[in-house]
Amino acid sequence: MKILIIHGPNLNTLGVREPGVYGIDTLGQINERCMGLAKELDVELEIHQSNHEGEIIDLIQSAAKTVKGIVINPGAYTHYSYAIRDAIAAVKLPSVEVHLSNIHSREEFRHTSVIAPVASGQICGFGGDSYILGIRALTELIRNA
Ligand code: DQA
Repeated sequence: MKILIIHGPNLNTLGVREPGVYGIDTLGQINERCMGLAKELDVELEIHQSNHEGEIIDLIQSAAKTVKGIVINPGAYTHYSYAIRDAIAAVKLPSVEVHLSNIHSREEFRHTSVIAPVASGQICGFGGDSYILGIRALTELIRNA
């Protein structure tokens, strides 16, 4: 079973980007932890990071044939990308929206997620562990379906 992990814009700079908000772990370190968990769960991961909305949509569309579910941190696109929302709705795969920070306790504009209504669920506020929890939740969801 394969799961697609998508890291959206600016997540390539984790580690140096606002460490007080996003922590000191680099994206590479987070990916390592995800791969460790995947091994434990006997799940295959396909991991991508993109700063481009269209590229993220292409990834979601092509995932339909190859993966069983998606874990996505859409970064700032969370708050306004109807195009990514539509791609997730169209692909009809279970998906978990994850965020390192608790978007609901931050600036007002971050309280809205246009993705959440079409995702299976949302996990936020646990730093890099949000991805770990997201992978666990998605795996259970798929296996119990
Ligand atoms: C984020 C939260 C977003 O509001 C922000 O634009 C990001 C990161 C998070 O993981 O906490 O880029 O998705």
